[in-house]
Amino acid sequence: MSSTSYGIGLAGCGTVGTGVIRALHRNGALIQQRSGSEMQLEVKRILVRDLDKSRHETVAPALLTTDWQSLVDDPEIAIVVELIGGTGLAYDIVARALTLGKPVVTGNKALLAERGTELFALSKIHNTPIHFEAAVAGGIPIIKTVQEAFIGNRIKAMCGIINGTSNYILQRMSEARLDFATALQEAQSLGYAEADPTLDVNGWDAAHKAILLATLAYGFPISPTEIHVVGIEQVKPIDIDFAKQLGYVVKLLAVIREHDDDAIELRLQPSFVSKSHILASVNGVFNAVAVNGDGVGESLFYGRGAGEDPTASAVVADLVEAARSLAHELPHRGFLPWGKQGRLLPIEETSTAYYVRFDVTDRPGVVAEIATVLAEHRIGISGTHSPVNPENPDAAFVDMVFLLHSCPFGLLQKALQKIAHLDCVNSAPVVFRIEQL
Ligand code: HSE
Repeated sequence: MSSTSYGIGLAGCGTVGTGVIRALHRNGALIQQRSGSEMQLEVKRILVRDLDKSRHETVAPALLTTDWQSLVDDPEIAIVVELIGGTGLAYDIVARALTLGKPVVTGNKALLAERGTELFALSKIHNTPIHFEAAVAGGIPIIKTVQEAFIGNRIKAMCGIINGTSNYILQRMSEARLDFATALQEAQSLGYAEADPTLDVNGWDAAHKAILLATLAYGFPISPTEIHVVGIEQVKPIDIDFAKQLGYVVKLLAVIREHDDDAIELRLQPSFVSKSHILASVNGVFNAVAVNGDGVGESLFYGRGAGEDPTASAVVADLVEAARSLAHELPHRGFLPWGKQGRLLPIEETSTAYYVRFDVTDRPGVVAEIATVLAEHRIGISGTHSPVNPENPDAAFVDMVFLLHSCPFGLLQKALQKIAHLDCVNSAPVVFRIEQL
């Protein structure tokens, strides 16, 4: 290792990797002054898949390699930055770096949500930190907030919008009336969506982030198989329109909440949020996380949740932290998980109000038939909505919306199963939660 710089091995030179190189290029001297360090942060090797791909001018071709092991093992490399994504090779890179005592900076939420327990155990054994601010909400320092700034609080709830791509798509579908595919293409061309946007739109990118936040706040390992995740792929313009008419907007929302018996509610789905709630105004690629701590009360964190520069901003901050840990031989901070056993609230026991849209064959008694089943299950109706088509007021097939009072999701499912057997109901009902935030 040089005596004037910490060598960085950058695994991955896509959108965020390029952003890190550019940020260090642009602000390197300033970062060094502000961090009060004698040592520079210097990218010394870059792992890529394709040596011949054209890259930004700040990416020096001489630093490129396709050999991950030689990058991690290089004695000139003091800190390893993992930005390749996925849970296979990324795991090998991070595990190898930790084993060699090299601090890791990663933006890989899937890796930490799926295999964090193994990696944090390695981190502990080798007394070497993993920093992952870039893994959740891009440029918003939400990891440091939960882990450090709010360490004196019992976290009662965290609710938020933590996938910029979905948020962008929902907004464009709502405002510009684009279809899902066109809005997704726009998000990709702006660099918000992952190279493979599947996890962005099926909810799992946000779910991985929610798992990390919940694990930080509540300290027990949460398996992705245990949580309830619904993405935005099935959101239809008709429901966005009904939401608008009823005073709501549709947002892909992460809800994490501690219940009185210590059970943790953790769910991720497109929900109706009142137009007047501050989260309803979070648009485009922006993310926002509302954190409620028993001491601090309600706080809101807002900023760009995806894209080259905001995410690189979080990586660079972690690089400074990693350099500090090397300079001062800071001990490992055990945090993920810290050992407490915890319990997730089964999704059937989580309660909210609901919007339910039925596709029905209209005839006298339809509303009463549906309402009867709801009443049998002791589910209250707060409103109904069924706009008449002025050009065809006698239409045989109509969309009929029921707004329901809060009840456990499991109870609603039971009622809907029974309603599905009514011969006036033509297809599976569409359900959105109405959040009371
Ligand atoms: N593609 C993600 C998003 C950013 O749209 O929020 C990285 O998780």
